[in-house]
Amino acid sequence: MNYKTIIALLVTLALFSCNKETTTPHTFTSSLWQYDTIIDSLLTQMTLEEKVNMLHGKHMFVSAGVERLGIADMRYADGPFGIREELEPNGWSPLGWENDKATFFPTGSALAATWSPELAYAYGTGMAREARLRGKDVILGPAINIQRIPTGGRTYEYLSEDPHLSAKLAVEYTKGVQDNGAAACLKHFALNNQENNRGTVNVIVGERAMREIYLPPFKAAVQEADAFSVMSAYNKVNGWWCAENDRLLNQILRNEWGFGGFVVSDWNGTHSTIASVKHGLNVEMPDSKFLGAALLDSVKAGAVSEEIIDKRVREILRVRMAIKPIPAEKANQVITSQAESQQIAYDVASKSIVLLKNEGILPIDLSNKPTIAVIGENAVREMGNGGIGAGVKTLYEITPLEGLKNRIGSRAQIIYAQGYVPVELDYARIFGNKPQEEIDREEKIKAIQNKKLNKEAIDVAAKADLVLFIGGNNRAVETEANDREHIFLPSGQDDLIKQLSVVNENIITVLVSGAPNDLNVVQPLSKALLQSWFNGTEGGNALADILLGNISPSGRLPFTLPVKLEDSPAYALGNYPQGVKSSDIFVDLVDKKETETTANADEAGNDPNTAYYSEELLVGYRWFDTKNKPVMYAFGHGLSYTSFAYSDCFTTKEKYDSNENIALSFKLSNTGSVAAEEVVQVYVHRINPEKEWPFKELKAFTRVELDSGESKTVDLQIPVQNLRYWNEETRSWADDLCEIELHIGASSADIRLKHKVLLQ
Ligand code: BGC
Repeated sequence: MNYKTIIALLVTLALFSCNKETTTPHTFTSSLWQYDTIIDSLLTQMTLEEKVNMLHGKHMFVSAGVERLGIADMRYADGPFGIREELEPNGWSPLGWENDKATFFPTGSALAATWSPELAYAYGTGMAREARLRGKDVILGPAINIQRIPTGGRTYEYLSEDPHLSAKLAVEYTKGVQDNGAAACLKHFALNNQENNRGTVNVIVGERAMREIYLPPFKAAVQEADAFSVMSAYNKVNGWWCAENDRLLNQILRNEWGFGGFVVSDWNGTHSTIASVKHGLNVEMPDSKFLGAALLDSVKAGAVSEEIIDKRVREILRVRMAIKPIPAEKANQVITSQAESQQIAYDVASKSIVLLKNEGILPIDLSNKPTIAVIGENAVREMGNGGIGAGVKTLYEITPLEGLKNRIGSRAQIIYAQGYVPVELDYARIFGNKPQEEIDREEKIKAIQNKKLNKEAIDVAAKADLVLFIGGNNRAVETEANDREHIFLPSGQDDLIKQLSVVNENIITVLVSGAPNDLNVVQPLSKALLQSWFNGTEGGNALADILLGNISPSGRLPFTLPVKLEDSPAYALGNYPQGVKSSDIFVDLVDKKETETTANADEAGNDPNTAYYSEELLVGYRWFDTKNKPVMYAFGHGLSYTSFAYSDCFTTKEKYDSNENIALSFKLSNTGSVAAEEVVQVYVHRINPEKEWPFKELKAFTRVELDSGESKTVDLQIPVQNLRYWNEETRSWADDLCEIELHIGASSADIRLKHKVLLQ
């Protein structure tokens, strides 16, 4: 047994063998409890068969009600960045409708780059309104796992590497959804931080890191937004599948946090009958392998009590009572995508774009009618669909090239070249069904095409005043079920930019990516560099508005851009990747795969089915800050077309008790010549703590809009309770009262003001 296996066993034993409930009682009362009296009466009228029938999928995205009693079916929609098109009832094939075309909202990392809880609320509103037009009850989103590894296949769907930022946005997204008549479904609970082997991997995480880094967005959305449903993740946490994880589902989510709604499995992510239903799963989706006939038999045989079944049915019925079903004849009467949602998509996109670097070349000056070479396949590529998993069939999607043409009109000459061959999804390769010779042959052809496209692009660039290189990843590169193997720009983009820079030194690079890329080549060769995103229906218009200076950039990075992938914590500690990718995509194959791959684990500990989170709290910037490691661009970074001055910082008191709120104020001035928005960030650095802490942690932020020359006083509050740590011995939150320093600035690396206070 190697040391990692021993640690794994100890953690698992400590956390799960004593089936003690956590002690902290919750103070939150879900609004869902109000329906319990009606439900008492309903339950007495239901047969056991009717009850069990509610606990599994009826169709791919429907779970059953009880028609006889007027209990409607529950209709689900993916989520999280647009309402998914209508699929055949028992498969994944689209029905090909016209009026299910929806608004493509900027994906998770774009939303997070706005650092705007208000926009997250608007986003939830737009999603819910479109869901209701389609007759849906539950939106499978927001997706709020922490971005632990830069290569994570779903980084673009998730929000941030930081729990505070993720939590604030998750709360408002959830409120926006539920204030507009649909239920939110928080996913994927919990610790689904990688896609490789997601259907087999066992996450070994210490309780403190779990509580302080990975669970806060879920907890906040439950307790501050009363989230009505939660999706269990595919993976295991500390030895138990998430869909049958008593600690996560019963003890933490329900008993400790007070969650009143229901838990739905991720699709095909259920593994058992008795453990699942007892340990807190309500609905097996999308079929009935475990919670159908097998469950009925288990109840009849006395292995599961009817009381448990009633409990699980009650939790679903509460949501059914809160969310009014839409009668079939009222659904799908108009096209899903609505103008007000398109406006929200624009607002989010326009505030999400991050200006990483600008050597005075932006905004683009059109006064001399320049020739602009737009180069890169991402300038014309739509990103609503394209990967494995949920996408959006959009009513329309403005690509960057269209956006530029819309906004520039005849004020410049735009010439376009594709530049490179994009990565496309190849299922045969993903499944390992393509012979190596065929792969080699395809690669050869691609290399020849790439050369030709490179050459065309260089010719175009040579004729232009300015090169706008629009590259990055795409939805085939960043996709569910697959982590990236590296973070280099795909399709030889680095090489192309090197060649472009020989013929034209005025390069502006726009990275259309949902996750980090290695920028070592592109950064020095670009006079300006922007991180754009999979930015929705209106993404191209928003990008053009930023490039032309119609609005000042105000997006801020929701994750760290490392100098190189190997610097990031899970890689630096050898915790990821864990050996060879061994599964999945079709998670229901996991049982077989798991035994095969476990047997393959080697003595060096490269077990592809175990992920050790030994970096503990040091995720994202917490790691780089604490270890004093350089980054390419820091968490929270983003430039503007103006400049801001920070001054006159004070707190209302010098000492705060553990039940008080630190009240902080400072003056923010727009010292430049254009109106703009700044995202101010407050980090807490502990000076003399008893416990070990990351160097600093984000604890407050806000967006401030200022005209040129204008100043405002910014007031922010930090509850001292939000600075507690999870005490693993007492299994509860505890104070580490000490002197702290508030670091106030424009990013985690650009601290403008410091102010000390004592916690007592
Ligand atoms: C994904 C979920 C999604 C579900 C239904 C799963 O593969 O992990 O996020 O909601 O499919 O499409």
